[in-house]
Amino acid sequence: MEQFLNLISKEMESAFEAAGYDSALGRVTVSNRPDLCEYQCNGAMAGAKRYRKAPFMIADDVAKALTEKNDGAGSNVFSKVEVVKPGFLNLDVKESFLQSYLREMSADERLGMPLPEKPEKIIIDYGGPNVAKPLHVGHLRSAVIGESVKRIARFHGEDVIGDIHLGDWGLQMGLVITELKKRMPDLPYFDPDFPGDYPREAPFTVSELEEIYPFASAKSKKDPEYYAEAMDNTRRLQEGERGLYALWQKIVGVSVADMKRNYENLDVSFDLWNGEASVHPVIPGMVRDMKESGCAHESQGALVIDVSEETDSKEIPPCIVLKSDGASLYTTTDLATIKERVEKYDPDRIIYITDKRQELHFTQVFRAARKAGLIGPETELVHIGFGTMNGKDGKPFKTREGGVMRLETLIADIDAEMLSKISTNPDIPAEEAQETSRRVALAALKYGDLSNQASKDYIFDIEKFTSFEGDTGPYILYTIVRMRSILQRYLAEEGATAPAELAPGVPASDVEKKLMMDLAGFNAMMEGAYADLAPHRVCAYIYQVSNDFNSFYHSTRILTEKDREQKESWIALLCLTERVLSRCIDVLGFSAPERM
Ligand code: ARG
Repeated sequence: MEQFLNLISKEMESAFEAAGYDSALGRVTVSNRPDLCEYQCNGAMAGAKRYRKAPFMIADDVAKALTEKNDGAGSNVFSKVEVVKPGFLNLDVKESFLQSYLREMSADERLGMPLPEKPEKIIIDYGGPNVAKPLHVGHLRSAVIGESVKRIARFHGEDVIGDIHLGDWGLQMGLVITELKKRMPDLPYFDPDFPGDYPREAPFTVSELEEIYPFASAKSKKDPEYYAEAMDNTRRLQEGERGLYALWQKIVGVSVADMKRNYENLDVSFDLWNGEASVHPVIPGMVRDMKESGCAHESQGALVIDVSEETDSKEIPPCIVLKSDGASLYTTTDLATIKERVEKYDPDRIIYITDKRQELHFTQVFRAARKAGLIGPETELVHIGFGTMNGKDGKPFKTREGGVMRLETLIADIDAEMLSKISTNPDIPAEEAQETSRRVALAALKYGDLSNQASKDYIFDIEKFTSFEGDTGPYILYTIVRMRSILQRYLAEEGATAPAELAPGVPASDVEKKLMMDLAGFNAMMEGAYADLAPHRVCAYIYQVSNDFNSFYHSTRILTEKDREQKESWIALLCLTERVLSRCIDVLGFSAPERM
């Protein structure tokens, strides 16, 4: 469906033309004085110089052209066209026009969102957890934002692949291996002459792994010999030593199983579970090509690509492809991953979602990838850098003891807070309360994050996020639950299981009209959220819709309405609002419970 605002603009543009002016002047915008009118057009002001006329004269001509339309019956689109000095056109939209737009929208499964002619192939690189290290809150934002961006793009009709891009190949693997060897030297993985098959079972649990990594990491900082051993094990692993590689597979297996459980709890899912290690075989050929083409050169023993550009306002250092000892780095695996993604999927766009502190890294990688010809000019590389999640003190979120907050602990805290609220509702049995509070808590967490522009830091405030009032996830869910319960009561009265094909009528009040105009803006909002890859726009929209629905609800006795036609029209409006909100929370990555 064409966007509502475009349809209105078209009506105005044709009036400018009919009055003898350039139709381009007829662009309509939402009113910035909602107390005076719903929409406005400032084209007469813009045209004054060109036509050497006072703006109000132009506006008068246009208003006249509109009243003369349809053999003098006037415009089908505007109920009010007011010329205000010095030359503004203040506009209200006709109830019948709004109604027919919503009817068409109701009848469309996609709520008026068109599908692209040719879907864009997009790879979204998000999550990015590191094997053997516990997930911490820093990984939360990448997962939450990435999942939503993926769902927005998918709903928009694009062909999207989500890739977790595991950190599974760096020094942390060498550290864990080193410490495992100290603790269990007799494991067959460390015997270079071990002939047979390695045991099926991993010789550790995930909690042991999570204890081992911080231990080994701390030790390596104090003990140079230990550090050297870890470096050596990393190198031997990367060179493919059989035993170490088999042990590495066990570490990855145990860690990934745990990650899958965690991401499932967050309602986050990936199409690809590739990691840095998976592109290891791509590196030698890539490096050879870079040397041969001359785009990479040696500098102090390392292999680098110059990526600075004349227009840079600050210095962008060269991108290091290989360290002086020949080892690969974070940049190396990212470059190799670009090469592999291009060869395998030929994407139109690759979107990375990480902490904004990685901005320089991605600038270097993107420029190096283009310079080395790993990617053509038609493929776009985008980095969405997000801000820090802070505690109430404005400093990065920590545990009470001052340590790094684990994601699981954070989720458990917000679940508990939610459960204590939900349990106050005596109608909800204990078991349902558990399940419901988990769902509402997830909404609280995700909405709390997504309602902020991604690049900004924000304060994680459990009390605020879990509140049933204000700009929060639970408030949105509460509104949806309210609509569903009205609908259930209506259906029970009617003795029906599903609402018949009801259609919204003309609005009976200003609050109803306001809600209808919000709904008519759905496709434009979604289009904008996709263009800007901006979940916060969806949040702002549903907050508005929820507020306007609740005003409508409080001023309207829907279920006790005697006039059948009126009642059915309200039920139809309620159903449409419910569909719009449900669609929106789905792209944000959460869902509503039965009741709360
Ligand atoms: N593992 C990295 C980290 O924890 C994030 C990976 C992001 N993706 C990428 N292609 N570099 O910081």
